[in-house]
Amino acid sequence: MFSKSFLSILPLALVVQAAVPPYKTDCGNGHSARNPKCCVWFDVLDDIQTSLFDGSKCGEEAHESLRLTFHDAISFSPTLGGGGADGSIMAFADIETSFHASTGLDEIVGEQKPFALKHNVSFGDFIQFAGAVAVSNCGGGPRLQFLAGRSNHSQVAPDGLIPLPEDPIDKILARMQDAGFSPAETVDLLASHSVAAQDHIDPTIHGSPFDSTPSDFDAQFFVETLLKGVAFPGNGSNLGEVLSPYPGEMRLQSDFAIARDPRTACEWQSFVTNQDLMVRKFTKVMAKMAVLGQDPRRLTDCSEVIPVPKPAASQVAHLPAGKTLKDIEASCKKTPFPTIKAHPGPETSIPPVPAS
Ligand code: HEM
Ligand SMILES: *[C@@H]1O[C@H](CO)[C@@H](O)[C@H](O)[C@H]1NC(C)=O
Ligand SMILES: *[C@@H]1O[C@H](CO)[C@@H](O)[C@H](O)[C@H]1NC(C)=O
Ligand SMILES: *[C@@H]1O[C@H](CO)[C@@H](O)[C@H](O)[C@H]1NC(C)=O
Repeated sequence: MFSKSFLSILPLALVVQAAVPPYKTDCGNGHSARNPKCCVWFDVLDDIQTSLFDGSKCGEEAHESLRLTFHDAISFSPTLGGGGADGSIMAFADIETSFHASTGLDEIVGEQKPFALKHNVSFGDFIQFAGAVAVSNCGGGPRLQFLAGRSNHSQVAPDGLIPLPEDPIDKILARMQDAGFSPAETVDLLASHSVAAQDHIDPTIHGSPFDSTPSDFDAQFFVETLLKGVAFPGNGSNLGEVLSPYPGEMRLQSDFAIARDPRTACEWQSFVTNQDLMVRKFTKVMAKMAVLGQDPRRLTDCSEVIPVPKPAASQVAHLPAGKTLKDIEASCKKTPFPTIKAHPGPETSIPPVPAS
């Protein structure tokens, strides 16, 4: 028992939060946890940081792991079925990774699955955990909430619930609304495309990123998607692809449209000079997405296991070299596009994200 005098020196927050003991349990693996149920996740963390993310990198596997959180969770509809963030994309990988929207995800599912089996955690938990760790490896990234305890039983998702880049914007926003996300929240989720590249829209330019800084969770994506499109980075126009502003960069038709639509343009532009807001809104909406189809009250908060990300190389977005504010297609009627600095020097091609 604590003596009265000891209690009086405890910070107020700890006294009030009586459910969380003010001490940590030694997990016996070099870590300690406030909740002993979270100990296993430190084993998983150490294992995937070394053996899946190539030493805590924000590279290809991290990007794919973040994408996978969406493709597992968004298959959730009150009328059309799908179990949400339940791990079904791993349990029924042969069916769900053959959906057109999930082309290429068979690779990361195949890479992740042995870790989930080895640590005996549910597929639904593993996918959301790996995504949260993945994005914490990106400079400026969010420290996402992670709740553990999803059942390992999942239901195979029906095809057609995952948005495609070639879908009309009305269809994308309606699908997101059906899963519970407003147009603004859809924009918030798309901050993920700040740490992203493509392999399958144009397979001739493997790893071509959606912005010039695919290892940093920064606001460059929200600037660069508003630049005038001038050329295709690879082998011509492909389904779901539109003109891109910059050599080496890929632009999805969906990102182009959502950046410019009156329902979403102001939320999009709001992140250009506010990386902190972008991180806060992404963190909030990801907490919602990660528990689609789950009862969060029955899950255990193991967010303490998620690493604290390092800052981005630059906290302030800029115009890429060779571009000026005249190249911006400002689309928010309410607020003028903010003045941001142009990067000095000549236009250079953005290198692809290396395959590992
Ligand atoms: C409107 C909804 C969305 C559409 C149409 C869309 C579409 C796409 C497409 C076509 C790719 C390229 C895949 C490839 O060719 O390899 C991609 C990549 C990616 N997406 Fe999305 N996406 C959407 C929303 C999201 C959301 C909500 C997240 C996460 C929260 C996400 C995370 C990612 C990531 C991280 C990548 C990069 C994967 C890599 O580099 O390997 N996307 N997305
Ligand atoms: C989860 O289910 C899969 C089959 O879909 C099984 O191989 C795996 O062992 C299960 N994991 C746990 C923790 O029960
Ligand atoms: C794996 O997890 C399942 C479900 O939580 C449990 O029933 C089983 O005993 C565990 N197996 C091992 C080897 O720990
Ligand atoms: C590029 O596209 C053209 C048709 O547009 C096709 O004939 C050619 O094979 C493609 N090149 C590669 C490397 O895929």
